Amino acid sequence: MLRWDESIFRNDFVFDLDFLPDVLLHREQQMNQLVANLMPALRGSSPVHTLCLGPPATGKTSTILYVLSQLGEDVEKVYLRCPAIGTIYKILARIFEKVCNHQAPQTGLSHIKLYEKIMERLDRPLIVVLDDINFISTGVVNDLLYLLLKSPEEYGVKIGIVAAATDIKFPLSLSPEVGAVFHYSAIYYSLYGNKEIWDILRWRVEKGFVAGAFSDGAFERVVELASEAGDLRLGMYLLRAAGLNAERRGSRKVDLQDVEAVYSGGAKLFLAKSLAALNSDEREVLKIVYLLDEEIAAGDLYGFFQREVGMSYQRFYEILNKLERLRLIDFVFDKKGRGRTRYVYKRYDADVVLEALREF
Ligand SMILES: Nc1ncnc2c1ncn2[C@@H]1O[C@H](COP(=O)(O)OP(=O)(O)OP(=O)(O)O)[C@@H](O)[C@H]1O
Ligand SMILES: [Mg+2]
Repeated sequence: MLRWDESIFRNDFVFDLDFLPDVLLHREQQMNQLVANLMPALRGSSPVHTLCLGPPATGKTSTILYVLSQLGEDVEKVYLRCPAIGTIYKILARIFEKVCNHQAPQTGLSHIKLYEKIMERLDRPLIVVLDDINFISTGVVNDLLYLLLKSPEEYGVKIGIVAAATDIKFPLSLSPEVGAVFHYSAIYYSLYGNKEIWDILRWRVEKGFVAGAFSDGAFERVVELASEAGDLRLGMYLLRAAGLNAERRGSRKVDLQDVEAVYSGGAKLFLAKSLAALNSDEREVLKIVYLLDEEIAAGDLYGFFQREVGMSYQRFYEILNKLERLRLIDFVFDKKGRGRTRYVYKRYDADVVLEALREF
């Protein structure tokens, strides 16, 4: 065993999922665009509404929080993680608390009244961040956006909405009424490639571990696994878990064996978030893909699926596209040069996915 003062970690908080690094590599373009959109608020005029769209772990939340932290006190900022707050009243209550500096009444007030109080009190431009907006129901999203978007006309206030979603089709879920007043600029977050993942994870290793403690072989393997899965969070998890594993062995160096040991055990935790964003039909399609032995042509898979469940081809196709956007499957033309048919491939180890699915 290592003594307590022999830890190979220097700062293990840099592996926490809510740790906000002060350097966000390879996201300059997105951050510049975000700053440009919000900048008018600093001059007392209306910010540009912004949608941040891209797969999980592409830096949406981090870049938004970073840019918000750079805006001074001349702007009112409210950051809301939508999965935690499902109703329009609760969302407005959080805005109320920030703007009015005291708790919103729990009951006895309609959400419209609460909204009016916010608007009357607001004396600065307001930026509302709705992070993971695809986790609230479409009805609530439409009502909320409509209310907020109408307020400049009705109350002469300046409001900017910044919303983040993993589903790039999110704008299609907006009602025509909202669509007519919601003019936004979209910022796209593409998946990080191998080189970008390498740079981002290297930064963590340098901050997080004692110099030289993470062997090159182990690091390259972490980068490879995270790139394959298209998931930076998996990389961050593996760095810390492999470090802990090395310490348990009493080793002062993290080796390949530590990475392999923790990967086989823990990858499923990383699927949990993506799976939670799926509805039951989508999980069913995913399950069937992972129960099959080999890759399969989309048409053949549909035949199989229709017999079991009965679903339109269009809906089925949309589901496959969504599973691909969430990096749960590959849905591609002829990896093996077999014409114009699209094939469905697994991205993860089948046992890991099926086990994670069992928890829903
Ligand atoms: N460019 C980057 N540089 C350094 N760390 C990053 C970068 N992008 C993401 N990260 C780290 O990766 C993790 C995931 O990032 P973040 O939460 O911002 O992603 P997200 O796009 O909001 O994901 P989700 O859609 O799942 O909410 C965080 O721990 C974050 O610190
Ligand atoms: Mg996020």
